Amino acid sequence: GVVVRERLQPGHRAAGGDRAMLQASAHRYRTRAFPEGLGEGAGGQGFVAGCLNSTRSYGMNQKEILADLDQRAELGGGEDRLRRHRDAGKLIARERIDLLFDPGTFEEIDKFVTHRCTDFGMADHVVPGDGVVCGFGRINGRVTYAFAQDFTVFGGSLSETNAAKIVKIMDLAVKMGAPVVGLNDSGGARIQEGVLSLGGYADIFLRNTLASGVVPQISAIMGPCAGGAVYSPAITDFIIMVKDTSYMFVTGPDVISAVTHEQVSKEELGGAVTHTERSGVAHFAVDNDQECLLLIRELLSFMPGNNVEDPPRVESVDPPDRAGETLDTVVPAAPNQAYDMLDVIHAVVDEGYLLQVHEHYARNMLVGFTRLGGRPVGIVANQPTHL
Ligand code: HXC
Repeated sequence: GVVVRERLQPGHRAAGGDRAMLQASAHRYRTRAFPEGLGEGAGGQGFVAGCLNSTRSYGMNQKEILADLDQRAELGGGEDRLRRHRDAGKLIARERIDLLFDPGTFEEIDKFVTHRCTDFGMADHVVPGDGVVCGFGRINGRVTYAFAQDFTVFGGSLSETNAAKIVKIMDLAVKMGAPVVGLNDSGGARIQEGVLSLGGYADIFLRNTLASGVVPQISAIMGPCAGGAVYSPAITDFIIMVKDTSYMFVTGPDVISAVTHEQVSKEELGGAVTHTERSGVAHFAVDNDQECLLLIRELLSFMPGNNVEDPPRVESVDPPDRAGETLDTVVPAAPNQAYDMLDVIHAVVDEGYLLQVHEHYARNMLVGFTRLGGRPVGIVANQPTHL
């Protein structure tokens, strides 16, 4: 009786103003029993259930079962897809996580979670971890939470369980007062799951809004991202796109062509240049995955872990009483002559370093992060060199 009642529970609940309901996360409502006879094929859901429930039929003890699950989780969508992914110049999800966190600090959670969709033959396609690597670790010594979508597993698409993993990370980050980093590489809602996947996005969007102004949220776009995989990053604090391999669009060029008969390239529709120069949705464009991960680490070095902490202060080697001689001449006497505001900023700030945000968008305004006496400072300035 208990099992039947649990099965009738929907996987996701609207918060409805009830904080306790929200905190519970979808895990509380997950079905834990598999329907009989499901997924008999190797690698199917039945296989995982079999592994967990019986050691005899497969001749494996519990340690071997865990090692096997672990290996399959690490393999993601399989060797072929991993090779194609790397050939496209992209790092795989676990490599990205490795580069993002201080060495040896990352703890993965929910590594063996699987989807529970049985439609469209999905029962025979189960990958432990379900296409998203979630966990926490340290970045520049400070606790940070992150998820990395694995494009080799169903295009990194978001399933109900996959969403529950991300939601857990976001809840923990807010609870601990630590930043959340999303490494997005996903075709959006997992088509095979329909509304359950869409519900997962609702859970994520809600947390994006609740975390806003409480902990930093940073999104990296590291592959072709569509639908919800774009709407969630779009409401986070900073978006970094990788040039030539990452895209942000509501839907891809093929759908646009079918619906409106317009021909548009991926790049024009949602490439890094489009979003950093024209729409302003993305704040940074970088050349490759490595640069993207380094930039996230740097960006976090300017931010507090949450809205009641101070940002981290660093040792400055720039003397605070240094004279900035160029300031005497940088502003022209004639009011109709332009000057470069960057010359002013560089002369004043620690070691002349400014991390420009939105460098290519609305170029008559300059915004960015720098330091004065080792303390992070935000800069907002007019830029007379651009109209
Ligand atoms: C399930 C998906 C998927 C998806 C991709 N795949 N997107 N599987 N659900 N949403 C799978 C493909 O079947 C393929 O599987 C593998 O991922 C790689 O996809 P390709 O198409 O071969 O890659 P590429 O040519 O690089 O194109 C990537 C793409 C395209 C632009 C993302 O796949 C695409 O347009 N996907 C659908 C996008 C979409 O409409 N998403 C739903 C958005 S709606 P195999 O097995 O061949 O490796 C949404 C609603 C949010 O998100 C609203 C919230 C309330």
